Amino acid sequence: MSVGKESRDGFASRFGIVCAAAGSAIGLGNIWRFPYVVGESGGGAFLLIYLGFVLLLGIPVMLSEFVIGRNAKRNAFGAFKKIAPRTLWPVVGIIGIVAAFVILAFYSTIAGWTLHYVYLSVVNGFKGADALTVTEIFVSFQTSGAFPVFWQIIFILLTAIIIISGVKKGIEKYSKILMPFLVLLLISLCIRSLTLPGSVGGLTFLFNPDFSKISSTVVLSALGQAFFSLSIGMGALITYASYFPDRTNLPVTSFQVSLADVIIAIMAGVAIFPAMFALGMLPEEGGPGLIFMVLPNVFQQMPGGYVVSIAFFVLLSIAALTSSISIMEVVVAFLTEEFGIKRPGATIITVVAAAFVGIFCTLSWSTFEHVSLGNRNIFDVLDFTASNVLLPLGGLLIVVFVGWYMKQSQVKDEMTNMGILKLMVFMIGYYTRDTRTDEDYTRIRVLKLKMFEVFLFIIRFLAPIAIAIIFLNGIGLIKSL
Ligand code: TRP
Repeated sequence: MSVGKESRDGFASRFGIVCAAAGSAIGLGNIWRFPYVVGESGGGAFLLIYLGFVLLLGIPVMLSEFVIGRNAKRNAFGAFKKIAPRTLWPVVGIIGIVAAFVILAFYSTIAGWTLHYVYLSVVNGFKGADALTVTEIFVSFQTSGAFPVFWQIIFILLTAIIIISGVKKGIEKYSKILMPFLVLLLISLCIRSLTLPGSVGGLTFLFNPDFSKISSTVVLSALGQAFFSLSIGMGALITYASYFPDRTNLPVTSFQVSLADVIIAIMAGVAIFPAMFALGMLPEEGGPGLIFMVLPNVFQQMPGGYVVSIAFFVLLSIAALTSSISIMEVVVAFLTEEFGIKRPGATIITVVAAAFVGIFCTLSWSTFEHVSLGNRNIFDVLDFTASNVLLPLGGLLIVVFVGWYMKQSQVKDEMTNMGILKLMVFMIGYYTRDTRTDEDYTRIRVLKLKMFEVFLFIIRFLAPIAIAIIFLNGIGLIKSL
């Protein structure tokens, strides 16, 4: 049972679309996950590989998700069912829904920590604390069991409230505001971090590539980080694109969103690493608690640090919310459209299931600290499974679907909005806008054609092969063969 086209909710404005997609992409992945994964993976060389993956694999996968979603105007499962009826392709949607639960579980753990840090900032809980005390405060909270679970549940409920109010009133409204403030605060953090004595080592670590640090595991985690940060590989952007109007320029949107995402991640790196070096901490030892152990020190040493700290954690919580709604929406859209369950009911089902898995995850450092696989606790296993297994697998299948299953004309129509769109006009056109000749228009058309050809080549050959090799290599399968 699926809902007819007319009755579907949708985004209202072009600005709202970019904000919603960017709101999905920009979140804990950039500000919490990026710095600690870079720290674990040796710095600059990882950053370069990560940037390469965003450009060559991330943007094409994102664009492919947009194409599927807007073409089918259905949830991630329903989209495959509609475009490829009576095939196995809808399984890709199922993988996405499983990934959504796994990500929601550990994402809400960290978002809960963030909420707790709003509270700690308000009560001035770090006043006069030195670096060691800041770390102790974090660890005692992380291992305290009930507290982090409490905040996690609050976060899941906040996400649910926005989800229930629907796309236009909920998702778009909340995505549009406040992001610019986060950017401003990040800039001020970068400045403070860079001006701390002894901070230079942090910049060297982040920007000076040392390729001896690169291994197949590191390459896989760069891919996982790129996919996680861009929100791709599990159908979140298929679902969002299903709400896009027909006039949305998909290629340009995918560029803008990816660019914004990368810039924020690098800014987070510049805010964290110089401060770490100034504090004498080692980048590889932070783990998931990294920003929670470093940033309070930076706030301590800032004029107006009290207010900045509150504002920062509030805005980070909001950034996390605009991301988690895109994850939850995958499941809720699936339940409403495929089973005809009403939105509130679908949300409640999702909340209960996500909270159930999520609690185990949050208790990874207390009640379940002895449950582990290799040297990974529950949290690490969920994060690894989602980011480094399910997302690459989903991304691989998504590009193969668009590249090989969908009709080329269909894909092209979607990318050019039925040929109306002049994708490259603004680039060439900017300098020639008053004096554009017929020849210019021919050039523009040729360039557009080439762009499509390049995209097709990437999603048909380059991306599937690259993702497969990185994945098999990263989990050690190629070596053992
Ligand atoms: N990209 C978000 C972040 O960086 C997290 C996220 C939202 C996500 N939706 C997703 C990750 C879908 C993977 C898939 O915080």
